[in-house]
Amino acid sequence: MLSILNLPLWCLIVVVLPLVYARPSSYALWGADSAIARGQGHGLDSSGNPLLLYEHGELQWALRLLYERTGNETYYNYIKTGVDNVVDSNGNVGGGYSATQFQLDPLRVGPTFLYLYNQTKQAKYKAAADEFRAQLPINSRTAQGQFWHKKVDPDQDNITAWDDIISQFVLMYNNTIQTAAPPDHTFTGLLYHGYDYSHTAVWADPDRGHSPEIWIRAVGWYSMALVDLLSIIPTSHPGHKIILSYIQTLFPRIVSAADPTSGVWWLVMTQPGRAGNYFESSGSAMFVYSLLKAVRLGYLCDSDGKVVAAAKKAYQYMVDNWVVDHGDGTMDWNNTVLVGSLDPSSNGSFEYYVGIPIDLNDLKGVAAFVLASIEFEQLSSK
Ligand SMILES: *[C@@H]1O[C@H](CO)[C@@H](O)[C@H](O)[C@H]1NC(C)=O
Ligand SMILES: *[C@@H]1O[C@H](CO)[C@@H](O)[C@H](O)[C@H]1NC(C)=O
Ligand SMILES: *[C@@H]1O[C@H](CO)[C@@H](O)[C@H](O)[C@H]1NC(C)=O
Ligand SMILES: *[C@@H]1O[C@H](CO)[C@@H](O)[C@H](O)[C@H]1NC(C)=O
Ligand SMILES: *[C@@H]1O[C@H](CO)[C@@H](O)[C@H](O)[C@H]1NC(C)=O
Ligand SMILES: *[C@@H]1O[C@H](CO)[C@@H](O)[C@H](O)[C@H]1NC(C)=O
Repeated sequence: MLSILNLPLWCLIVVVLPLVYARPSSYALWGADSAIARGQGHGLDSSGNPLLLYEHGELQWALRLLYERTGNETYYNYIKTGVDNVVDSNGNVGGGYSATQFQLDPLRVGPTFLYLYNQTKQAKYKAAADEFRAQLPINSRTAQGQFWHKKVDPDQDNITAWDDIISQFVLMYNNTIQTAAPPDHTFTGLLYHGYDYSHTAVWADPDRGHSPEIWIRAVGWYSMALVDLLSIIPTSHPGHKIILSYIQTLFPRIVSAADPTSGVWWLVMTQPGRAGNYFESSGSAMFVYSLLKAVRLGYLCDSDGKVVAAAKKAYQYMVDNWVVDHGDGTMDWNNTVLVGSLDPSSNGSFEYYVGIPIDLNDLKGVAAFVLASIEFEQLSSK
């Protein structure tokens, strides 16, 4: 081992200063610990009442990966108490859940129920997962079989789960993929934000029914879902090939859509540089996670290193611009857009998206940053 006593004084300064002005040894841990310190994603609203929210499921996924990497039980306990806040001892799901509202959003917490059931074998977690599972066959669907996001219109399909899962991804891809540049828009080849089967929504394209703009977080959710799904779908299922082909088609387009200077991505991806548009942090973090995970697991060939280089460049921008030291040991995460909606209050226009405020420490972005950091830190530890 090198003794620091043999080093000249200037070397000591170089060695000591970074310890004083410490950057965290892990942004993944700093981001997660900061969210925990703020009490985020814990199955509670700001008044302490039970709340079932999809972004809690996103954070729980990140904490689960951290627990698996570090063995630190703090993360596991936070996941468990967070779920215990919304699931009672009989497995009834509370926090505002009602199966007959036919909303897909709360189901994002379902994987955590399955995870806890596997860890604890407590029947209540299986009962909670069963309650969510029972929503799927009665959930509203279009005539093509695609789930409605939120709406009451029962339609009793009964197909096997993997077939149905793949079918949801195929229909979303097919119905929202950008196939040509709209007037005055840049061609990205990415997925439009939403789709209306009836083509009657105010924002729906008359020919295909998709919304007019490519909104970063929609593509972010879809890309994370693709890599997470491919890691669990049986290779014997024909859907495996389909999901792999989507990753191999879409991910290079995500790389191409990055802003060449900063390396990160625009809120409205179809309109880079337009006044009012800005670099958005949740979607950018989702892309870094998805791109790095796809390369790490061999879903995407990166023999020239361009994909990893793009992800690294974006990640550097994130920590330089969106991570803000709060001064009390925690970090803030900036520039995550609060929402993007295609409900009847929204016309889906560029003006609509850029008019939504950014939200400091928005969990949808914080959790994505933790996920991106988990991937990034595996890269640098190689
Ligand atoms: C586990 O994580 C918590 C913060 O989330 C931290 O305070 C604690 O020191 C960690 N424990 C170990 C053994 O690293
Ligand atoms: C259940 O947990 C065990 C042990 O942690 C793990 O090996 C297994 O893959 C898990 N199963 C599922 C379906 O997650
Ligand atoms: C749905 O599928 C399951 C499993 O294949 C089968 O047991 C059940 O009878 C089916 N239900 C209906 C209504 O077709
Ligand atoms: C969607 O699927 C239909 C029917 O399979 C096909 O004709 C069409 O080309 C697909 N559209 C896109 C954009 O992939
Ligand atoms: C977050 O970013 C906005 C501009 O995008 C800036 O006005 C604000 O001061 C930043 N907040 C923090 C805590 O840095
Ligand atoms: C769409 O809604 C936004 C506000 O969300 C508004 O600024 C814009 O003018 C609307 N566009 C049209 C064509 O109605």
